[in-house]
Amino acid sequence: MEKDRENIKLKIEKMRGELQRHNYYYYEKNESLISDVEYDMLLKKLEKLEKENPEYKVINSPTSIVGGGIKDSKFGKVTHKKSMLSLANTYNLGDLEDFDGRVKRILSKENEEKEDIGIDYVLELKLDGISISIHYEDGRLIQAVTRGDGKVGEDVTENIMQIKSIPKYLKESVSIEVRGEIVLPLTEFRSLNKKRLESEEEVFANPRNAAGGTLRQKDANIVGERNLDAYIYYLADSEELGFQTHIQSIKYLEELGFKTTKIFELCKTIEYLETRIKYWEEKRNKLDYETDGLVIKVNNLSLYEILGATTKAPRWAISYKFPAKQVTTKLNGVTWQVGRTGKVTPVAELEAVEVSGSIVRRASLHNYDEVLRKDIKIGDTVFIEKAAEIIPQVIKPVKELREGTEEEIIPPINCPVCNSILEKEEGLVNLKCMNPHCKAKLQGKMEYFISRDAMNIIGGAKIVEKFIELGFLKEISDFYELYLKKDELEKLDNLGRKSIEKLLVSIEESKKLDYSKTLYALGIPFVGKFLGGLLSKESKNIDNLEKMEVEELLAIDGVGEKVAQSVYGYFRDENNIKILEKLKEAKVNFQLEEVDQGSHLEEFIGKTFLATGKLTHFKRQEIKDIVEKLGGTNISGVSKKLDYLIVGEKPGSKLKKAEELGTVKILTEEEFLELTK
Ligand code: IVH
Repeated sequence: MEKDRENIKLKIEKMRGELQRHNYYYYEKNESLISDVEYDMLLKKLEKLEKENPEYKVINSPTSIVGGGIKDSKFGKVTHKKSMLSLANTYNLGDLEDFDGRVKRILSKENEEKEDIGIDYVLELKLDGISISIHYEDGRLIQAVTRGDGKVGEDVTENIMQIKSIPKYLKESVSIEVRGEIVLPLTEFRSLNKKRLESEEEVFANPRNAAGGTLRQKDANIVGERNLDAYIYYLADSEELGFQTHIQSIKYLEELGFKTTKIFELCKTIEYLETRIKYWEEKRNKLDYETDGLVIKVNNLSLYEILGATTKAPRWAISYKFPAKQVTTKLNGVTWQVGRTGKVTPVAELEAVEVSGSIVRRASLHNYDEVLRKDIKIGDTVFIEKAAEIIPQVIKPVKELREGTEEEIIPPINCPVCNSILEKEEGLVNLKCMNPHCKAKLQGKMEYFISRDAMNIIGGAKIVEKFIELGFLKEISDFYELYLKKDELEKLDNLGRKSIEKLLVSIEESKKLDYSKTLYALGIPFVGKFLGGLLSKESKNIDNLEKMEVEELLAIDGVGEKVAQSVYGYFRDENNIKILEKLKEAKVNFQLEEVDQGSHLEEFIGKTFLATGKLTHFKRQEIKDIVEKLGGTNISGVSKKLDYLIVGEKPGSKLKKAEELGTVKILTEEEFLELTK
């Protein structure tokens, strides 16, 4: 009898394991090893067995959990089973030698050995992100918790589910806790901040803030869009699981499907560590994630218990922090800049200084509240930093260096460009110029309208400025009436017939652009490239979008209250209605072109493309536009995910990598053209 019970238990467990494996392939690899019917039959069989033998039912059986769904417990507090400790920081080799000495002292005491013992250390990168603890039961992700205060963290499971590199199902049906770091890759960080700048939203100070802010988003869809990444570096209870070394446990994590940095170097001596520190200090600038130092860990897991921990940090690991990229300089003054939407922001005028290889003279101060919060004064010596090499920022003043002559930064009452009285929007920290005719706003609006991602009209800030000055451009729709003034334009200094002709041709060409681009170009507050694309797809044409009520806009996945109100308000503004009328009269495209359902459908839909080398027939952007139009996706790197590589002259390393992979189809520009026909 006992034996029969044991057999049933084993059978149930085996079936769970099997279903688990199918879930893994289905959700992680988009592959089905069996048909849906077979899967369902197996599931039904297990349900029956569990019903007949309730003592063997577990809460996270594949029978009680549907697909990727997990119950919403947004940001509930969770106590860590094992505290999430911090790491002791060191900044020089001497400190590392002390650490090595301490480890050896504790261990030799334990073994009553007098002579020097050899210890294997593992050197890895210290990722500058948000630490996370992820729990799996029987191979299935059940909960993810932030570090919090080390004892109690926040449940961010639903948001974590959106991160592609975190497996939702493991390759083995194991119950484990792993820890790692959530980071925003630098490429993603740059494009996110670029988008935010364009829509005049506050930029993130650094990738870590952006990762943290994203992880705490109420809307999980936004988390999905931001392309966070996760690197795992720790398997809790790895000794109990039978591993002898940290390296072994990392290998196992990789086998289970976790992403690691792959940088785990075995070091036997502090001297060797020194050479590697030098190496990584250089090399770290080439990575697509931020690292603020290295972590040195004892490799032998059996020593962890002997070495123990303080209340804050384990004694088997230590971090070596790289010198900060920050530099100090003098804040000579503050100018106030007026953006396209009228937002007035303070800009620091600095004494020129070199940061990460370039000279910085100006830096962002974000907004007046931030100036107050950081207590920055004119004349201060300030720390500045380049966040992921984009926008230099003032971090904080060095108060110890104050001489008493420093001056308060006083926000302006009038617009620095048009002199109208500024307003402070309710609930927002920004000062705003409300004058619709303010030259700075006009200039910003026009430059945005003609920019590459918008109407892609040639010309630049200078031409726009001149045309505004001459009264040719009062509204964006005036671009389409410039041809009427051709003779006048041709007579302008420094321009000439040829360049005016080119400009008019490119204005004409812009009428044919995708609806998503024209929508973006309108400059509706908060509607950047992504939302331009989304709203164009959802509305199909501008007449539909104009009619949408706030509720209808809110019903679109990815549109929140702020955006819905902004779009609704835009189309009900009298001036905007007039501009739109004119744009429509000029025949600017406000209609979604359906994806061509032609024969090349399968070559493009769901496929990924990348162009490399010097192209002779296309501009790089043209290829991207064609790919998107036909339903494909553009990606930026060569990996197994890439389907087509279009090669121009001197293709270089991308072609080599694609050839090595063997899975990428390689096309000449002519072959690509064929594919589109
Ligand atoms: S091990 C018990 N390894 O740094 C020690 N931590 O300053 C567990 N961190 O809270 C951490 N990279 O969030 C470890 N390769 C790495 C790391 C790393 C970044 C973070 C982690 C920790 C913080 C301590």
